Amino acid sequence: MPEKDIFILGIESSCDDTSAAVLKNSTILSNVIARQEIHEQYGGVVPELASRAHQQNIIPVVDAALKKAGISKEHLSAIAFTRGPGLLGSLIVGTSFAKAFAMSLNVPLLDVNHMIGHVLAHFIDDPEREKPTFPFLCLTVSGGHTQIVLVKAPLEMEVIGSTIDDAAGEAFDKAAKLLGFPYPGGPLIDKHAKNGDPKRFMFAKPAIKDYDFSFSGLKTSILYFLQKQQAVDDQFIQNNIEDLCASIQYTIISILLKKISKASKDLNINQIAIAGGVSANSGLREALVRQADQQGWKVFIPRFEYCTDNAAMIAITGKFLLEQNRFCDQCVSATARYLI
Ligand code: KG4
Ligand code: ZN
Repeated sequence: MPEKDIFILGIESSCDDTSAAVLKNSTILSNVIARQEIHEQYGGVVPELASRAHQQNIIPVVDAALKKAGISKEHLSAIAFTRGPGLLGSLIVGTSFAKAFAMSLNVPLLDVNHMIGHVLAHFIDDPEREKPTFPFLCLTVSGGHTQIVLVKAPLEMEVIGSTIDDAAGEAFDKAAKLLGFPYPGGPLIDKHAKNGDPKRFMFAKPAIKDYDFSFSGLKTSILYFLQKQQAVDDQFIQNNIEDLCASIQYTIISILLKKISKASKDLNINQIAIAGGVSANSGLREALVRQADQQGWKVFIPRFEYCTDNAAMIAITGKFLLEQNRFCDQCVSATARYLI
């Protein structure tokens, strides 16, 4: 008898994107994301506004994901949701919705760690992409985290390096703010860097031990540099925007690649994956492919839509949890600080 298809609804609401996805076995049928533009004017995510917007978005987003997948809620085998880490008020919306929906449908509930979700996005079926085999290293770079993760099995991971202050995405966003871009500035730096000279301006690179990172000094270094230049030319930023973006992006990428190279050498692992919002950065993607050629790495780069926050990665992680019968019960609560 053919095996029964498994349908998992994934729900993600850890920061400022409300997302719902439907997974059929390992294939994504829909991945709907509602972005919250309200934060742009404030230069960063305002937690209270984010949770209110999640409350407005969650039902229409889930409804759209089910419709796009062409299934009804009665087909669902389980519901997976982001339990943490993230903004508590935002997480509570997704968690409460998932609990109530699972109870009403009488299906199991799967609590997912958002950072594991970013890594496991590589296991979504994709005819154009190979999946990594174990063990591999994943550089997870987002707005809230920067980690080098040693992935031993789907649900067995060890964080071997992380940032001691700002995350890589935060470094992009803070630098972008200094250049006058709205939030989130990472994609705008990427866009303007395309025609700039990455070696025109030099910024300080920190000396941090082992596989850890630090990005707060970079922000200060950019701030002082801009203040000095603007004292003599108040149009300095406008006149040099492309070179500034390219140089900032180059510095962040160099810091990231140095550490992942060290981890790869020390652990003798040549399968390198990237994940998280910053893995959408075209400069990082290109630099990684170049480095792979030089160092004999096999690299794994997710589709753009699975780099930034999305529920597809939560649904695929739910599938691995389901296979191991790792369900959670209705007592589960959202957890802002949730370690891998
Ligand atoms: O993973 P993500 O969507 O949310 C978090 O979990 O934080 O990552 C968001 C971060 C933001 O800092 C954003 O500026 C950055 O990813 N980002 C980029 C690019 N696209 C998103 N940074 C640089 N270049 C990009 N193309
Ligand atoms: Zn994320």
